Amino acid sequence: MRQALPLNARNIMIEKAYHDRDGQIWIDGEFVDWREAKVHVLTHSLHYGSAVFEGNRAYEGEIFRLTDHSQRLVNSAEFMGFEIPFTRDQIDEACRETLAKTELGDAYLRPFAWRGSDMMGVASKNNRIHLGVAAWHWGNYFPDKMKGIRLTISKWKRPAPDTIPCKSKGAGLYMICTLSKDSASAAGYDDALMYDYKGRVAECTGAHIFFIRDGEIHTPTNDILLDGITHDTVIKLAAKRGYTVYKRDIYPTEMPHFTECFIVGTAAEITPVREIAGQDYTVGDITKTLAADYDALVRGKIAL
Ligand SMILES: Cc1ncc(COP(=O)(O)O)c(C=O)c1O
Repeated sequence: MRQALPLNARNIMIEKAYHDRDGQIWIDGEFVDWREAKVHVLTHSLHYGSAVFEGNRAYEGEIFRLTDHSQRLVNSAEFMGFEIPFTRDQIDEACRETLAKTELGDAYLRPFAWRGSDMMGVASKNNRIHLGVAAWHWGNYFPDKMKGIRLTISKWKRPAPDTIPCKSKGAGLYMICTLSKDSASAAGYDDALMYDYKGRVAECTGAHIFFIRDGEIHTPTNDILLDGITHDTVIKLAAKRGYTVYKRDIYPTEMPHFTECFIVGTAAEITPVREIAGQDYTVGDITKTLAADYDALVRGKIAL
């Protein structure tokens, strides 16, 4: 009997599950058939959340800011207390080879490193560290994104820097992102905005946030947020256009005073926001200009 297709959070049929696709995945220096790219159920990172990962995008065959992503993966592992047994350059190369195998021009890449199944228990030192890279076609993270998305406010707060290694793109940090995203979807929103442990505006579940008022741009950057590669790119693009960008603490009481808002990330690219929990924003000229610039940049039509 044919098995029912899996369902996602909104009970929509998923066409092709991620474990059941054609292709190859790079693992520890070799390509493995996609369906055979498995780990044991007693894998340390699966139980204790210590895997680290990246999300890269390739455009027309070129991986955007590849080395910055590979370096961040190396750093994430260090924050998590382990060393990836491949250099940054080898990670770059693994990503390029994986992309080449897919024969895709535009693709999403997922490099990831994890503690294996050599030992079980909270202690980790005898576990071997593994590295994998997968790539697949992934279009817009938000369908029809230039219409603007709707955000709700998450009940979960981004943690303090002395409670978790928050500069690491570590799997364990994403449990509150998944909870936030799923409850936002269940309430009919596209995503959730998270505040931090001090009550400041922090970020969305996989993207940083920018606001605009009187032609000036404001964005949170601090010691608890992931050092965003798109965030950095957008600040440089804004500077090139001559916009003033303030990187500073933003509190929720300010949000009604902004006129435009957008979120940024490798997956989300630049996505305008049209509502945050009942507060409306315009998909305005600055957002549209930066979104067009970002698209031109990643496709090599302009330089930074
Ligand atoms: C929680 C979180 N914030 C922000 C971002 C955006 O980071 P980047 O622009 O480096 O992809 C991501 C994506 O990696 C993320 O997962």
